[in-house]
Amino acid sequence: MSKINIKKINDFFTYRNDFLHIEDVSIMDISKTIKTPFYVYSTSSLKKRYIDLSYSLKKIRHSLYFSVKSNSNLAVLRVLSLLGSGMDVVSAGEYLRAKKVGVCGDKIVFSGVGKTYDEIKIALANGIRQFNVESIPEITLINKIAVELGTIAPISIRVNPDVDAQTHEKIMTGKSENKFGIPINSTLGIYEKASKLSNIKVVGIDVHIGSQITDLTPFETAFIKIAKLVGQIREKGHSIDRVDIGGGLGISYSSSKRDPISTDNFAIMLTKIFKDMNVEIQIEPGRFISGNSGLLITSVVYLKEGQNKNFLIIDAGMNDLVRPAMYDAEHEFLTIKDNLNDNNKILVDIVGPICESSDVFLKNKKLPKLASGDYLAIYSAGAYGAVMSSEYNSRPLIPELLVHENLVSVVRSRPKIEDVIKRDQIPYWLR
Ligand code: LLP
Repeated sequence: MSKINIKKINDFFTYRNDFLHIEDVSIMDISKTIKTPFYVYSTSSLKKRYIDLSYSLKKIRHSLYFSVKSNSNLAVLRVLSLLGSGMDVVSAGEYLRAKKVGVCGDKIVFSGVGKTYDEIKIALANGIRQFNVESIPEITLINKIAVELGTIAPISIRVNPDVDAQTHEKIMTGKSENKFGIPINSTLGIYEKASKLSNIKVVGIDVHIGSQITDLTPFETAFIKIAKLVGQIREKGHSIDRVDIGGGLGISYSSSKRDPISTDNFAIMLTKIFKDMNVEIQIEPGRFISGNSGLLITSVVYLKEGQNKNFLIIDAGMNDLVRPAMYDAEHEFLTIKDNLNDNNKILVDIVGPICESSDVFLKNKKLPKLASGDYLAIYSAGAYGAVMSSEYNSRPLIPELLVHENLVSVVRSRPKIEDVIKRDQIPYWLR
């Protein structure tokens, strides 16, 4: 048997004899049967990211709640729930997804600034570990619903520590001007008030300062403030057993670079701050687990060679992956065949087909000269990709696939355009 030439991109994405593989499956082979664009995720990668993080935290009393908003596909959630992961949800829809894959209520935390009556009721009636609450009216409403249901609602108070997470402005949440959390200097008072409500049990403190954080310092600054607050709460005679530190661990958007923060260093920092506090540390990682576990596979529609610029027009658009348009994110593009026309590279802007000038993935990218029908893979597309997609320009949502070793399954199929259109109704008075 001839030897396979393997070039590693990360643990589960490799070039084998020059063709890109996800686990043991060739992307080229999948693309021949499933029309692009589509998302594809690696089961082993999801598992490894979860296990690596848990392993780094092994000496800390902790529990993990996968942030469903980063990737809410049931198959992805199932992979993680089978590993014992809890779930962090922000809507009734996400809550029901978590339940659907077998996560029990006691392992679901409910975050978000605008939980509605119906959402709180669904969670309270079906079981919840804690609501991470963000305002007094929310606490009052939760208490009221708990009275109606004759139950006790566990809550954790989300603190806004006024810390700059040093990330993109649109994904920072821990500054005082952000809508999230309760200002740290009013937390103690609110903790006391909430503890007096008949059907509320305050179980902890919660903080989440932002997403795609690439440096330990902002985490450390926020957590030191939180640890001090826990001390103050205890001094007032309250018991507090849980500190939920949110998500936010950044990833590398370049296949040649490692994670910006090592999970071992993250664990060392946590131990230093919380070691004598006897609290359970709850973590809500999203992107860290799902981000580099998925690719968005697309193909070239046209290469439009211009006088000043060349545009590589691909069949994925900002409706399929909005991060570049929304957060100026730069996702790496991988060719499906390595070393393709290596001597014939040209400078292109990689753009989608949507009628918006912001539908641009990368500018001035040197790529082998590609032609209509050639495939490309967009790296780091497992988090905030499919979940943020839309049907803008009446483009149906694209499929999601999950690979496990040599198995491939479609885990969300592409709706027929007729079915998408059928959802609208022309009122009788316009017929
Ligand atoms: N916990 C809470 C309360 C959150 O709001 C979030 C994310 C997480 C956990 C998970 O954060 P992660 O570990 O994934 O960083 N769409 C943006 C990211 C928005 C994040 C919102 N909250 C993006 O594509 O970059």
